[in-house]
Amino acid sequence: MATVVTVGAHILDVLARPVAGIPDGQDTVVVDQIRATAAGAAAGTAVALARLGNRVVSVGAVGDDDLGDLLVTIMNRNGVDVTGLVRRTAEQTSASILPIRPDGGRPSFHVPGANLTLTAHAVEPGLLTAANAVHLGGPDVTFGLNDPDFFAALDAARASGTIVTMDLLSNMPDLVKGTGSFLPHVDHFLPNEEQAAAMTGEDDPEKAARALLAEGPASVVVTLGAEGSLVATAGGGVHRLPALPVEVVDTTGCGDAYCAGFITGLGQGRDVLESARWGTAAAATVAQGLGSDANLTDLDAVLALLR
Ligand SMILES: Nc1ncnc2c1ncn2[C@@H]1O[C@H](COP(=O)(O)OP(=O)(O)OP(=O)(O)O)[C@@H](O)[C@H]1O
Ligand SMILES: [Mg+2]
Repeated sequence: MATVVTVGAHILDVLARPVAGIPDGQDTVVVDQIRATAAGAAAGTAVALARLGNRVVSVGAVGDDDLGDLLVTIMNRNGVDVTGLVRRTAEQTSASILPIRPDGGRPSFHVPGANLTLTAHAVEPGLLTAANAVHLGGPDVTFGLNDPDFFAALDAARASGTIVTMDLLSNMPDLVKGTGSFLPHVDHFLPNEEQAAAMTGEDDPEKAARALLAEGPASVVVTLGAEGSLVATAGGGVHRLPALPVEVVDTTGCGDAYCAGFITGLGQGRDVLESARWGTAAAATVAQGLGSDANLTDLDAVLALLR
């Protein structure tokens, strides 16, 4: 069992489906399903990693409020160690409301809240060194981690054998571009297509991946939504992995599930391409239900999708 430390964005998602539009006036519309989940590129990935059998410690900032209590409860129930979370009194817990359209489309309302207050001081360097893997989830919004002290802690962990992976949260070009400084300290980077384009100015994901590889990571995996993903490695060229053909309910958290499957594969000694297949299967699992953890039971069920 690998130990993974997730560091970054912690969001309480509240999702409803199906939602065709905001009702007129004060009308109430009965929907099939409403859920609350632990989401965000650190918390959502932490829950998915735990479901896939990893030991997970999550580090981030949440408010000292009811939303924060609920987020912590959900993470606890999933077996995630939350002792690395700091509670902020002056900020609310980051949260999103997602009315999921009948076709799976996912518009959202979002409060960044306490995520914006995370700094390098919240991260215990010994925790990173002791981990098999550290996943940076959303350094574009936890920009306080963009700090030489944190980079030194990452480098020390990597020197001790820890693998560092990174995913981003937002699609806001100004925030996303600022994360380029993390790349020399990261082994595997998994942005989505928009994020890769914003960081490099290259709309072609293959060119974007090559430009990102040149900044230091051993591999860059660009996720392409329903088109699957593109896996580029420093020595091994570029491969395209199609998405698995599943009946899509809601793609919220597919990127986080992809990262969790990928990290689980690496932890079990698989190479980058095979680990990306595990990520693809975890993402396809989550796409078939509402919320970032939907249908994710265990690793065997995920890998069965590949057979
Ligand atoms: N419609 C779909 N059908 C099957 N698989 C999908 C679908 N959409 C996404 N996926 C899978 O999920 C992966 C990640 O999706 P996407 O590129 O949308 O991530 P993202 O934009 O980072 O999402 P997130 O908001 O969860 O971070 C894709 O590479 C693909 O394997
Ligand atoms: Mg993503």
